[in-house]
Amino acid sequence: MKIARTISEARAFINELRQQQEGSAAGRIVGFVPTMGYLHEGHASLLRRSRQESGISVLSIFVNPIQFGPNEDLDRYPRSEEADLQLAEREGVDVVFLPSVEEMYPEERRTTVTVTGVTERLCGASRPGHFDGVATVVSKLFNIIKPDKAFFGAKDAQQVAVLQKMVKDLNMDVDIVPCPIVREEDGLALSSRNAYLSEEQRREALVLSRSLREASIRIQTEDVTPQQIVDDVTQAIQTSPIAEIDYVEMLSFPDLAPIHPEHGLSELRASGGSAILALAVKFGSTRLIDNAIMKLK
Ligand code: PAJ
Repeated sequence: MKIARTISEARAFINELRQQQEGSAAGRIVGFVPTMGYLHEGHASLLRRSRQESGISVLSIFVNPIQFGPNEDLDRYPRSEEADLQLAEREGVDVVFLPSVEEMYPEERRTTVTVTGVTERLCGASRPGHFDGVATVVSKLFNIIKPDKAFFGAKDAQQVAVLQKMVKDLNMDVDIVPCPIVREEDGLALSSRNAYLSEEQRREALVLSRSLREASIRIQTEDVTPQQIVDDVTQAIQTSPIAEIDYVEMLSFPDLAPIHPEHGLSELRASGGSAILALAVKFGSTRLIDNAIMKLK
């Protein structure tokens, strides 16, 4: 496994591997998993998928300052380079790209990638500028790594929708591959930010996956409106005395548009569309997100 700390090293390592695979079209496919490190089983699942589907598997670890708001957790974002490299090695990564902030942003940046529409709600509304930071850094990473496929978790479903739209609008020659959410046995979605939770907060946070699971069943088996579902989930979360709701929303997916409240789900159902039930909730100073994407039957 090669470790590249500069852009030119990363390009050189990947070019070298591509040349070694000259005879094999499948072997030349570059799979890419961008992360901010402090890797867990969720990240590992993406790396496994990348290993399976590509001849050359690349991981990036970069805590991207421009996607954090002024009062967010950039300064305390957890880091563990040594453990991350061990996990990468175990998952068969060929190249790890580990740039510094200076390497990625050496001078004042005058270019920002902004995706409109799909960024207006959910985390886009509560974290202004966040998706500009994500779209900009992912564009830069795509230009550095030049992947054929890039693997992203459905845990950050809006991120997937934003990047799919970006790639389409800008004709970027890369497949965005969404991968399922990995959860703890008790249902909590894995997140690097779970490391911030106290024992009590960790226990109370189970209300998120539990209420999503119950709502998903109700959506598939009863004739309910999105508003009823949102109310149910909101009430369930409010039973926890320490949960502070940022948002609970049900939208169409992947366009993230409101579902007509009066027509309920019947219109989406008739068109065979998908819906997302998404939430962001704070436990103490830790903000957790989770969601369920449903193909309506
Ligand atoms: P990060 O939060 O480190 O996540 C990296 C990738 O891992 C994302 O695609 C995310 O959706 C996925 N992931 C996280 N938890 C997961 C889980 N429980 N199950 C499945 N996948 C999971 O997302 C980012 O970093 C950044 O915004 C980034 C894209 C790297 C740009 O800076």
